[in-house]
Amino acid sequence: MEPYRNKNMTTEKRTADLLSRMTLEEKVGQMMQLPANSDNNMDKLESMNIGSYLHCTGDMMRVLQTRAEQTRLGIPRIFGIDAIHGHCIDNRATVFPTQLGVSCSWNRDLIQKMGAVTAREVRANGIHWTFSPVLCVARDSRWGRVDETFGEDPWFIGEMANEMIEGYQGKEGYNNWEKIMACGKHYAGYGEAAGGRDAYEAEISRRTMLSLFLPPFEKIVKNGCASLMAGYQAISGEPCSASSWLLRENAKEEWGLDGFIVTDWDNIGSLYTKQKVASDLKEAACLAILAGNDMIMTTPSFYEHAIALVKEGRIEESLIDDSVTRILRAKFRLGLFDEYRHTPSDLEATVLGRADHWEVSAQASRESLVLLKNDNLLPINSQKVKSIALVGSNADDVLAQLGDWSFGSMQAGASDDSFHRDQTVTLLAGLRDRAGRDGITVHFVKGADPLDDAFDQIGEAVRSAASADLTIACVGDTLKLHGEFHDRANLDLTGRQQDLLEAVKATGTPLCVVLMTSKPLSVPWIEETADAIFCAFNPGAKGGTALAEALFGDVNPSGKLTISFPRHVGQQPVHYNRYSGWHSMNDRAMAGQERYIDMPEEALFVFGEGMSYTSFSYSNLTLSSSRLTRGLDLLVSIDLRNRGDRDGTEIIQLYINDLYSSVTTPVKEIRGFERVFVKAGETVCVSMTLPFEELSLVNAHLERVVEPGEFEILVGSSSRDGDLLKAVVTVE
Ligand code: NOJ
Repeated sequence: MEPYRNKNMTTEKRTADLLSRMTLEEKVGQMMQLPANSDNNMDKLESMNIGSYLHCTGDMMRVLQTRAEQTRLGIPRIFGIDAIHGHCIDNRATVFPTQLGVSCSWNRDLIQKMGAVTAREVRANGIHWTFSPVLCVARDSRWGRVDETFGEDPWFIGEMANEMIEGYQGKEGYNNWEKIMACGKHYAGYGEAAGGRDAYEAEISRRTMLSLFLPPFEKIVKNGCASLMAGYQAISGEPCSASSWLLRENAKEEWGLDGFIVTDWDNIGSLYTKQKVASDLKEAACLAILAGNDMIMTTPSFYEHAIALVKEGRIEESLIDDSVTRILRAKFRLGLFDEYRHTPSDLEATVLGRADHWEVSAQASRESLVLLKNDNLLPINSQKVKSIALVGSNADDVLAQLGDWSFGSMQAGASDDSFHRDQTVTLLAGLRDRAGRDGITVHFVKGADPLDDAFDQIGEAVRSAASADLTIACVGDTLKLHGEFHDRANLDLTGRQQDLLEAVKATGTPLCVVLMTSKPLSVPWIEETADAIFCAFNPGAKGGTALAEALFGDVNPSGKLTISFPRHVGQQPVHYNRYSGWHSMNDRAMAGQERYIDMPEEALFVFGEGMSYTSFSYSNLTLSSSRLTRGLDLLVSIDLRNRGDRDGTEIIQLYINDLYSSVTTPVKEIRGFERVFVKAGETVCVSMTLPFEELSLVNAHLERVVEPGEFEILVGSSSRDGDLLKAVVTVE
């Protein structure tokens, strides 16, 4: 037996042995990834030894894997898919809230479980790799892909991403039927495209890259994330896929990525056709290899060009070897050369959509909900409320509820919008069920449609609201209003949704608004006028049940926002970790004035904000020391009291503010959080550790350092100044 086939040898030895047997053509074939549904794939397979396919499922996958086994060296293929919030592209699978939705739970364990469920279902389906999680920093809601992110804060994103990756990959490795490889994307700065235009150029300085956009990726690479995907866009003129600074210097050399880097869809072709930094496809292939891309997604021409470039001596074969080593290593680690090559065909039937998987999804739906306002309206009092008028088309729109990458999504292919319909409980269904148990009637009128300016059932909605004890309006966006290259210049409610809200409010019936939206919209009227507001983002298939439970108080809401809502689109980008700037609001010259002359600078709803049916008070902020030196961590303690008469969960947040530093720094930055359950009337003392390195900044010489001086330590219930207690520690 050749050493590479010997299971008892180390991965390194097997990889080296296999590589030494491969022809140049076989090596470059390993770097190729194609969609299985494109024409002539079978022929390409035979001629190019394609190493990986994406978006390939079912019998096609089995055929491709068998063919690979029959080739000279029998190298298995890796199949990749966009399982973004669950393995949603399979109709039998468990669908979770979007990444943005579930991020509002601030629940590490839950996010890890979501990853684990997804991994089990993906692997049972014969697929080895998901293009998830997304580590983009979402600071401009105009961008179409905000829903795919963990929100606006890079530190928080890194923390959540690590949990999800651990759920996907496991601690013990992914050579088993329950685990898959993760792919951190889009590396890097993809969410920062100018004007919120998807994949458009981003202007980001090296210092900002190092301080804001690279840290979440560094965190996951150092934690063993198996792969990264390069972003589409160029940063300050350099396309991510052509940037050896990003791919080689940072990811591979500096952080020690031993996995591989895949391009995004035809990134390499685009270096020539769109970004025009290469004069033809061969030059594009050359740039791609030099920069450090290992696997080339959907640029078929790469194959012949890469081979020619090596033969002509323009590219050293050692660069190809490095990429192929990384890819083969992953295949060995997945167990694909051994007993995990062919997935048993009966596995998926017992794993996809398992009852315990749906239970995790239901928990995610519950914990993703954020109560943003409550003027004594909620929870619904069944003694007083006998009839509910439910209005707004999102109350019964599966597409709006599940969001992107479930069906109808671009490359996900599943365009049949009956997908997941059977498993989905809309707000209408959930509310009817829950209200019915208390003898409350629910009358539903669509009223308005986010996609149709002409759709107008406002008169009927008003009649319904006028005769009800409570109006619940479910408004927001729906699938066609977001997603890849579906950016918006206007963040107001679309269609006649705003008119609908104003009309039902005018009846005098109390109004609860449920925002079912892929992203923050500018909704100042709602903030000012509604009696209660829930933000649900895309709450997952069981979102309707979760919302009904929360509205009736069966569950006490605990979610907090991970992204700010703008007052107006002109405020974009608006995020809590802003700079104080020159014309500071504390300047005498600006006394009484906001930074904008026509609206406040602060967001409408801020990062970290969210209410409960009980209330919490914070006291006794204590630091383990008032002075800190390298090697010491700071222990931060706080007393948290549940002042209400209901048990509840609070998300305690810890921020830092570097008071004086060699470069300007944000007014505050989150560095810790805890989800704490507290019984009614009880007080708990909660301690959080702040590692010394978390106080670091990137200085003007692009070095990461902790500078001596005073730091404010802020602890409380949201990023708002008024919600935070302060103490000072001095770094010596
Ligand atoms: C393009 C998207 O930008 C990326 O997120 C996705 O993983 C790939 N296509 C593959 O579908």
